[in-house]
Amino acid sequence: EKDGYPSFMEKEINEQPEAVAATLLGRSDIDGKLILDEMRIDADVLKTINKIIVLACGTSAYAGQVAKYAIEHWCRIPTEVELSHEFRYRDPIVDDKTLIVSLSQSGETMDTLMAVRYAREQGAKTIAICNTNGSTIPRESDAVLYTHAGPEIAVASTKAFLAQITAAYLLGLYLAQLRGNLFQGQIKDILADLGKMPAKIATILDNSEQIKELARSMADTRSVLFLGRHVGYPVAMEGALKLKELAYIHAEGFAAGELKHGPIALIEEGQPVIVVVPSPRGRDSLHSKVVSNIQEVRARGAMTIVIAEEGDESVREYAEHVFYIPETTPLLAPLLTTVPLQLFACALATAKGFDVDQPRNLAKSVTVE
Ligand code: M6R
Repeated sequence: EKDGYPSFMEKEINEQPEAVAATLLGRSDIDGKLILDEMRIDADVLKTINKIIVLACGTSAYAGQVAKYAIEHWCRIPTEVELSHEFRYRDPIVDDKTLIVSLSQSGETMDTLMAVRYAREQGAKTIAICNTNGSTIPRESDAVLYTHAGPEIAVASTKAFLAQITAAYLLGLYLAQLRGNLFQGQIKDILADLGKMPAKIATILDNSEQIKELARSMADTRSVLFLGRHVGYPVAMEGALKLKELAYIHAEGFAAGELKHGPIALIEEGQPVIVVVPSPRGRDSLHSKVVSNIQEVRARGAMTIVIAEEGDESVREYAEHVFYIPETTPLLAPLLTTVPLQLFACALATAKGFDVDQPRNLAKSVTVE
């Protein structure tokens, strides 16, 4: 069933173009109008919500953080992301104007289920973004937007993550359409960019040897730091989580702007730092700020590994290794920048001789609180 791949994880990483394509399929028409048939919440209700709370755990929560950036930018609805297990124990402010978006690959994560139940009791409307048909969280929600990644067997989430981000973009565009925040033409352009993602992910997969080779050469590494900004920040945290889970290496993801507020003290000779560089075409001066961060850590001895957009030559002189990803709309970049980090963690763990499908101490779905 592994289709010739040595592990389910490798198979699932390589299925990501299809996972994204299948999640987009049939959800918009040629004019760029979103058709989310499953959205059983009344349009009038969705027009009046004044706050979104995204609830999830682990990798799904990182997808939620990407969702926050997109939804706030496109829909102008205040959106917070909260770990499900923190949410209901802190007396959160939830009412019938709150939209809860839960993200769960399995649909069975107990922490998220309990948080959704709690929010519903407070009168909130709930939408589940889920990869498992008929699972508990969608059954207990007002509406569901299924991701069509196909079954994910490996404990570490990969294709479900990209599919969750894709579904969250669709939800954001749907709300923007409904509430009139974006012109139809703008939505159509973003959908066209999303439609190009499967081919771009495939390009990264076709050129994966360089990053795998680097990963294999780092099998003795004790710690790796990941930096990112804007949507690259949750990607950095996801890259770190994959490395912890699979290779049992201490890894930490930071918002690059936080560096000088503490983490830069960790940098010593030879410390590997993986930096997700924002597009030079992105917001404000984020690109140059992150390039300065690369210089800062390098000046203190860091070994810098950079993920940057094709054509971005400015990073070369500060990086030991550069991996290029195809160009895209800056908000959509996580669908691409995540992939080299998955490949890196998987190859490094394999080089250490670990079972990437069944990492120690972990279960595929966490069905206890
Ligand atoms: O099934 P869920 O999406 O609710 O699972 C949430 C987390 O348990 C899950 O993403 C976990 O962090 C994975 N092991 C990450 O690779």
